Amino acid sequence: MVNSQNAKPQVTKAVIPAAGLGTRFLPATKAMPKEMLPIVDKPAIQYVVEEAAAAGLQDVLIITGRNKVNITNHFDSVPELEEALEKKGDEKKLNRVHRASDVADVHMLRQGQPLGLGHAVGRAQQHVGENSFAVLLGDDLIDERDPLLPKMIAEHDARQATIIALMEVPEESIHLYGCAATEATDDPDVVRITGLVEKPDPADAPSNLAVIGRYVLRPEIFEILAVQQPGRGGEIQLTDALDTIARGESGEVYGVIFRGRRYDTGDKADWIKANVRLGVDNAELGADLRQWLIEFADKLRG
Ligand code: UTP
Repeated sequence: MVNSQNAKPQVTKAVIPAAGLGTRFLPATKAMPKEMLPIVDKPAIQYVVEEAAAAGLQDVLIITGRNKVNITNHFDSVPELEEALEKKGDEKKLNRVHRASDVADVHMLRQGQPLGLGHAVGRAQQHVGENSFAVLLGDDLIDERDPLLPKMIAEHDARQATIIALMEVPEESIHLYGCAATEATDDPDVVRITGLVEKPDPADAPSNLAVIGRYVLRPEIFEILAVQQPGRGGEIQLTDALDTIARGESGEVYGVIFRGRRYDTGDKADWIKANVRLGVDNAELGADLRQWLIEFADKLRG
């Protein structure tokens, strides 16, 4: 929806940055993007695209980088595979193959160089134009049983502000995340953000509220990103651009505090946990896996 003079920006598009180098998961990610690592039976990024579609965002732009041809192929139809399954009459598998290509209208854009998350998001400007849009990190999986994006979009619409997802983390882990300085609002799940700092030392962290990979951004972000200097790690940081907004230069920033299940699938231990947690709830595998886990845990206890 185009933002005509007095219209409020509408959220209809999702942007999924998936162009990072995935160095925490080497060597698995040497020739394969981390977003294609499977969680039970689907690549991580398919869960993220499905989450966007479930929140009503059918137009999805994936920002890709090197080795990302697999992502492009995954969201395309595969006529020879479909034909073979049709011949066998295997409806179940055919539906699974169709689901990936039918779930949303998926577009691809190359980042060019992996200059940081802020740079990746900035590349989406032409696609999203003068509209607000959601950003979902391709390696950040929010359990579909704990929906987050609909609340964030509703807060954006009500407040006409930038919205970020936050999660409480142990103090000793805050250096792994962007961290928010906040003020309470009358909603216990929503805070006003007064500043943001990327991966602070625990001693300097303004809170234990960590930024997680869901955002609803307003088109003003692009002007800020265009002049954003490299920050922590020499990368153009989205957190730094959001800090500029939070400090009052271009509207307000609010945080929605997420208390549900989330997995960082770019982290080896979290990836394994995601497979176990979603595996035990899977209709086909769950019963066997749960039984095996109980026996395994008994053996671990000695
Ligand atoms: P991460 O910092 O988790 O990605 O970026 P990374 O650099 O691939 O991770 P490691 O630390 O080396 O393992 C968060 C998100 O931003 C994307 C990543 O793909 C991930 O979804 N990203 C990051 C980009 O799209 N482009 C970049 O230049 C950097």
